[in-house]
Amino acid sequence: MNDRQLCVGLSLAVTWFSGNAWRRNDSHVEDILNPTYYINIAKLAEKAHVDFLFRPDSLFVDPKALSHSVGFCALEPTLLMAAIAPHTSHIGLLTTASTTFNEPYIIARQLQSLHHISHGRAAWNIVTALDGHQNFGLPHMPDVGIRYAKAKEFAMAVKKLWRSFPHEALTIDRNEGKFVTSELITTPDVRGDYFSVKGPLSVPMHDSGEVPLFQAGASEEGRDFAAQIADGIFAACPDIDSAKSYRDDVRARMQKYQRNPNKVKVLPGLSLYLAASEEQAKALYLESQSSLDINRKNQFICDSLGIDITQLTEETEICASLIGPLPDHVRSRTHSELLRRLVKRETLTLAELRKRPEVSASAHWQIVGTVEQAADEIIEWFEKDAIDGFIALPGGSEESLKLVCEKLLPLLAERGYFRRQYTHTTLRGHLSE
Ligand SMILES: Cc1cc2nc3c(=O)[nH]c(=O)nc-3n(C[C@H](O)[C@H](O)[C@H](O)COP(=O)(O)O)c2cc1C
Repeated sequence: MNDRQLCVGLSLAVTWFSGNAWRRNDSHVEDILNPTYYINIAKLAEKAHVDFLFRPDSLFVDPKALSHSVGFCALEPTLLMAAIAPHTSHIGLLTTASTTFNEPYIIARQLQSLHHISHGRAAWNIVTALDGHQNFGLPHMPDVGIRYAKAKEFAMAVKKLWRSFPHEALTIDRNEGKFVTSELITTPDVRGDYFSVKGPLSVPMHDSGEVPLFQAGASEEGRDFAAQIADGIFAACPDIDSAKSYRDDVRARMQKYQRNPNKVKVLPGLSLYLAASEEQAKALYLESQSSLDINRKNQFICDSLGIDITQLTEETEICASLIGPLPDHVRSRTHSELLRRLVKRETLTLAELRKRPEVSASAHWQIVGTVEQAADEIIEWFEKDAIDGFIALPGGSEESLKLVCEKLLPLLAERGYFRRQYTHTTLRGHLSE
């Protein structure tokens, strides 16, 4: 067995319904709001000893995009994880909550409640959010600097609230009539630039310890924030070099904050279009690509490169000299910078550019092939210290999802890179392996 083991999350963002895939006759797309559908996936993932299930989130939907794709038509992620918890026993439950549109007390309480409901398996993916301002009385998305300043204050307040009611304070002495030892409960009284919260929290900390924190967002501010607080990072890394330099960078920053770099797992999203042969996998990939997404892709290219592509033909070559300054209003600098990096490195036609993961797959790593090919590539990235694991985003069909759980993970286990059984019952335990 290899010394280091892969850490593997499975996304419940129903990526296997993306593009045209939801339209397949064998898709269970009608079940996307049915908790039993996710409970069955959770059981499949738990059988494969996956570290955690993960649900990203958005507090905004675009009806035009929904007219032809599933997008973010979804159950609220923390409630979904709470529905899954009683039907599982080992798998971690990573939910997403934005620090831009919430209050620390509410999130601290929800997360700590999920921690109890799941017996210590909850985790929080901290996002500063891509959009949604219109649903919270704001004229536009706050500037990224402000979003991260808020995120830092928010996360610190949540941690203080969790610690305000330690598990040991729960005394429950019937004879003495003493429910808690109130001297052990503290009042954090946080007064920051963005949040004021007195505490204590109404839910005691679960006896398994603190809820692990994950982060997504790779700008300077995002990396620095992750280096200070994250146990895990959901990353967008379309190639091995970007993954390696990102992981090296975050690990170096952690040392600056006196944190052990081995305490963070850098986990790129990994789109997996799997089939019995490479040809079948390629066909699955092509079949799932929806031509209706073209306007969204064009908009992303225009915004990220700071150029107008509306007059260009499919064959126009997009090269570094065409790139304009990065506009202030981009949704995510992480994704825009990854596209700019690609264009600076390679000259591609507009048609080719649209097919690259930087445009077509939220800049996630993509493998289109057989289970064996996927295992080889994952092991290569892992051996070259580019990743600590990955968050699986199965694509094309539900069969890809099944292949990830029933074939790919067992193969990685057989090769000594992934656990053959759970040795812990909490996510913090899995992350410590
Ligand atoms: C890989 C990745 C996943 C993300 N997932 C979410 C998400 O689920 N929900 C959300 O509102 N924002 C999400 N974001 C947005 C980030 O939280 C952040 O607001 C955005 O990327 C801007 O920060 P940045 O400049 O550091 O990238 C994600 C970003 C990245 C890079």
